[in-house]
Amino acid sequence: MSIQTKPLHSVGVHMKRKEDPRFIQGKGHYIDDLSFPGMLYLSLVRSTYPHAEITNIDISEAMKVPGVKAVITGKDLEAAGLGWLPTFHGFDKQMVLAIGKVLFQYQEVAAVFAETRAAAVDGAEAVQVDYAPLPVVADPFASKTDKTLLRPDRESKTNHIFHWEVGDKEGTARAMASSPKRIKQRLWFQRCHPAPLEPCGCVAYFDTMGRLQFHVTSQAPHVYRTALSLVTGIPEDKIHVMSPDLGGGFGNKVPVYPGYVCAIVGALKIGRPVKWIETRTENLTSTGFARDYHMDVEIGATADGKVTALHVATTADHGAFDAAADPSKYPAGIFGIVTGSYSFPVAHAEVDAYFTNKAPGGIAYRCSFRVTEASYAIERGMDILADELGMDAVELRKKNFIRKDQFPYPSALGFTYDSGDYHKTLDVALEKIGYTGLLKEQAEKRARGELMGIGFSTFTEVVGAGPSKHFDILGIKMFDSAEIRIHPTGAGIVRTGTKSQGQGHETTWAQIVAEELGLDPQTIMVEEGDTDTAPYGLGTYASRSTPVAGAAITMAARRIREKARKIAAHLLEVGEGDVEWIDYKFQVKGVPAKTVTMKEVAFAAYTNMAQNEPGLEATYYYDPPNMTYPNGAYVAVVDIDRETGETKVRRFVAVDDCGVVINPMIVEGQIHGGLTEGFAMAFIQEIQYDAQGNNLNTNFTDYLVPTSLETPHWETGNTVTPSPHHPMGAKGVGESPNVGSPAAFVNAVIDALSPLGVRHLDMPLTRDKVWRAIRDAEVKKKA
Ligand code: CDP
Repeated sequence: MSIQTKPLHSVGVHMKRKEDPRFIQGKGHYIDDLSFPGMLYLSLVRSTYPHAEITNIDISEAMKVPGVKAVITGKDLEAAGLGWLPTFHGFDKQMVLAIGKVLFQYQEVAAVFAETRAAAVDGAEAVQVDYAPLPVVADPFASKTDKTLLRPDRESKTNHIFHWEVGDKEGTARAMASSPKRIKQRLWFQRCHPAPLEPCGCVAYFDTMGRLQFHVTSQAPHVYRTALSLVTGIPEDKIHVMSPDLGGGFGNKVPVYPGYVCAIVGALKIGRPVKWIETRTENLTSTGFARDYHMDVEIGATADGKVTALHVATTADHGAFDAAADPSKYPAGIFGIVTGSYSFPVAHAEVDAYFTNKAPGGIAYRCSFRVTEASYAIERGMDILADELGMDAVELRKKNFIRKDQFPYPSALGFTYDSGDYHKTLDVALEKIGYTGLLKEQAEKRARGELMGIGFSTFTEVVGAGPSKHFDILGIKMFDSAEIRIHPTGAGIVRTGTKSQGQGHETTWAQIVAEELGLDPQTIMVEEGDTDTAPYGLGTYASRSTPVAGAAITMAARRIREKARKIAAHLLEVGEGDVEWIDYKFQVKGVPAKTVTMKEVAFAAYTNMAQNEPGLEATYYYDPPNMTYPNGAYVAVVDIDRETGETKVRRFVAVDDCGVVINPMIVEGQIHGGLTEGFAMAFIQEIQYDAQGNNLNTNFTDYLVPTSLETPHWETGNTVTPSPHHPMGAKGVGESPNVGSPAAFVNAVIDALSPLGVRHLDMPLTRDKVWRAIRDAEVKKKA
């Protein structure tokens, strides 16, 4: 490979293993805190054009910048066979550095390595790139018809990426045609960004054994190790991936990004550690966006409000590369959950995805791969149907809910919902919000011309990817794993293939072990994120940790308990069959006075094990038999200022059912965080592009993140319907509030505006947009 470097007088600085920092989970060790002797900094040159040929790259000025050591271009990488990166679901590939042309603004064009961060940035600015602009395709509808072929590198010479469908097409069309009532509405779930507080970053170096030590902000460290091995050809045993504490992830830290590959290539070629830390602008413009689904929702119903059919046709904007982080078999993720909490006799969903000159992504932003879009579609659709029927939104929902006695419920789109009691969850929410009183208040306010709205979202989720017969990434099945070691004193360590980004696994994993083994949770250490020590797992996203790794921990603990039973029998001087586990202790059957604790058994496992194998540890790889189906009933109450269009969320009640709760405080925290993100998407956030493909939201002054001043007060509650197939009865919860809340906010705003004849507005419902809708309605009324 022709890497262009300055004389590398200082090359040859290698790390000794003892200099490796050891991360202690939850202690605040972030990538940017890492420093190694001789470490270089990487800065990426990025495209100013959304679509253009690269006619020349001149690095001579960059090489003169003091401190700059090397510059790499796409051609250099291509020559080394590293020009392209496979995307996770395997349908497409992505340029590491632009080769021949750029396809979106801020695309990575060249990599500059320097002694300091400032020198790397100066060097990147000094790289002269000449572009010849090409026509820009800025939206997926234009992409359908535009003659401009964006990806001539692909075999199929079209901008259409895929067509995916599920359900009964003809049956749905027939049922729809014969339905007395029908609604049809286009809904756009706008392009958003997870915007974690800490952007992406890494430090890469090769140790004295020639082994890649890779510290990286990854939600899925093991998958990274495998992917890096496949891309670079470095044997997997020569790659050590470590993911320290992460300042949020929300799906943004699942894909492998070009900056990571460049850092590794730089470390290999220059022979020094390389650090790459994204800026906020780089994070917002080039790493994993979310959503961007245009959904035509059609619902059929009887005159008295029983749903008869659902059809959803989606046009998806995937940007320049199909880097959506979906399982291989699911190009549109788990969009099939779009029938929601309702008993549709027949349904059909289809998604067509297109390339555009925008950043790639389509990541699962706190969402099981397009579940948020699906939930928004059905929950908005039900409100529009209620409006059409002149029916109360609650009455319509209750009439069509899957009943408690119908579980396990086979949905029209192929899922088997495990459990739920939707009527109960909604009743708890109605009671908490005081629905009857609110309706009275609303009627009075409407009579005075005031705009008050009540909005519902009674969503069903599908989390816990997933059963190996359906789910994989790069072909690797989506199981997860746990290894538990109990030490002689009864303290222990649990390691899993997941990776917390602030969800509190350090607490809940220790609680599961403690609960299953009768030990003190304070003495159970939790370690995740190190591929040298953790058993192989697919990582943390899509609320899969509790349904999959949580189950693996439970099963591993139960394996330990089985072994411990043998030792307990020896200590109690009875046969194994005479020992039972009661009240967190082993007891001789029928003799409550003869007991032995797990702590005593642990000591004996190393000191007095008789014929039993020494030690007390177990590993379990859990392949879930089904997904889990948490649900929720959310109610928003809003007041809108008629003169300014300002919406005030006066109250928000969220009642969630995630089965058995491990830690109520952590679940409450998850709900608060997710609701705040849902609020942001509903009212303020959108990654916008102009018609020329320029990104208009490149930092936090344009892409707003709500502070405590804007964020409403959240009122929470829960119901408990255990999952019948999860060993603890738990379901995932992390993404529920993000998935469920946008529709509640929008439904409330539209309910407030409905006396003016407003039927739908797309998110974000900014003050400006709402004010215009009010003004237009008033102008229309006067005309
Ligand atoms: O995969 P991720 O950790 O993001 O999502 P999750 O499995 O829904 O868990 C989020 C946090 O809530 C974890 O600390 C869980 O252990 C906790 N949780 C809980 O305490 N009880 C539940 N039923 C579900 C999650």
